[in-house]
Amino acid sequence: MKAILPVAGMGTRLRPLTHTTPKALVHVAGKPILGHILDALIPLGIDEVVLIVGHLGEQIEQYVRSTYPVRVRCVEQPERLGLGHAVLLAQEAFGCEDEPVLIVLGDTIFSADLRSVLAAKGSAIGVHEVEDPTRFGVVELEGTRIRRLVEKPAEPPSNLAIVGVYYLASSRRLFAALQQIIERDIKLKGEYQLTDALQLLIEQGEEMTTFPVLDWLDCGNPETLLESNRLLLDKQKGNGQLPSAEDCIIIPPVSIAPSARIVQSIVGPYVSIAEGVEVRQCIIRNSIVNREAHVTNVLLSDSIIGERAAVGGTYAQVNVGDSSDIRVAG
Ligand code: UTP
Repeated sequence: MKAILPVAGMGTRLRPLTHTTPKALVHVAGKPILGHILDALIPLGIDEVVLIVGHLGEQIEQYVRSTYPVRVRCVEQPERLGLGHAVLLAQEAFGCEDEPVLIVLGDTIFSADLRSVLAAKGSAIGVHEVEDPTRFGVVELEGTRIRRLVEKPAEPPSNLAIVGVYYLASSRRLFAALQQIIERDIKLKGEYQLTDALQLLIEQGEEMTTFPVLDWLDCGNPETLLESNRLLLDKQKGNGQLPSAEDCIIIPPVSIAPSARIVQSIVGPYVSIAEGVEVRQCIIRNSIVNREAHVTNVLLSDSIIGERAAVGGTYAQVNVGDSSDIRVAG
C-alpha cells in the first residue's frame, strides 16, 4: 500500500532552523520528525512512500532513501498551493490503479490503531478530542459516519479535530475530487484544501468514519516541538546509553546519540542530542540539539540548536565583598 507524505511546506514557524533543515528532518526525541512517522507506518505494510517535496526536498529524499527499506517516489510541488494541491500531485505515482491510500502530514507525530483502520477498509479520518475546537478543522458526525467537515467553526458541531492522518478507500475517487476542487478553483486562504475534497467526496456519497488518534504531537512551532520532545522522551524513558559522557550528570529522560560527545556537563531532563554533537561544560535542560552542533560553557533551557551551530558562553569573573547581592545575567 502507498502512503502520501506531503512535506513541501516552508516551515516558516520553525525558522531560522528551517532555512537550512526541512521541518520534517528537525530532530525530536532521538530522530527526525519524519523518522517517528515512518517508524509507525512501515510495520503496517506500507511498501511505497510518495513524498511531495518542495523546500529542501532533496535532503528529505536522501534521508528516507538511506534510512528505510521502502520504495520512495518524490514528486515536486513547484508552488505551495495548499495541501489539496500537494496530494493531487501524488496521482502520477498511482497510474491507472485504484487502490486504498494513506495520507499523513509530514509534521505530525501520532499514535493510532491504524492496523484496525486498514483492516476495516472504509475511508476514515483520524481525529483527536480537543478543548477548543474553534481553532481546528472539525468533523460533524451522524452516528459513526461523518456528515460534514468544518474549518475553524464558531459553533463547533463536535470537539473532534482533524489531525492530519487520512485513510481513503479509493485513490481514484480521491484524485477525482481533488481535481474538481482545483477546476472549480475552490480555495481557502489562497490554498486548495484537502478538507474541501473530502467534503465533496462525502457529498458524492462516500461513507467516511473517524478513528481516534491518541497522541497527537504537533511539531510546527518551537513551543509545540519542545512539548512533543518532552512527551516522546517520557514515553521512551530515555535511551540511557551514554557512550562518551565524561564526568557528567545525566538527568533522565534524555536521548543522546551514541556519536555525541558530552564532557563535564549536566544534561537533562528532557534533552535530545543528535549525532555528532559536542557538549562541553554545560548545563542543558528541556532542549533539542541538532546534528553536529557544538555547545560550550553555557546554561541552556527551552532551547533549540540547529545543525552545525556553535553556541558558546563564558564564565563570569567576579571579586565580591561580604553581604553583596550579585546577579550574573545569562
Ligand atoms: P503547514 O500548514 O504546517 O505548513 O503544512 P508548513 O509550511 O510546513 O509550516 P509553516 O506554516 O510555514 O510554519 C502541513 C503539512 O502539509 C505540507 C507541509 O509540508 C506540512 O507537512 N504542505 C502544506 C505541503 O506539502 N504543500 C502545501 O502546499 C501545503
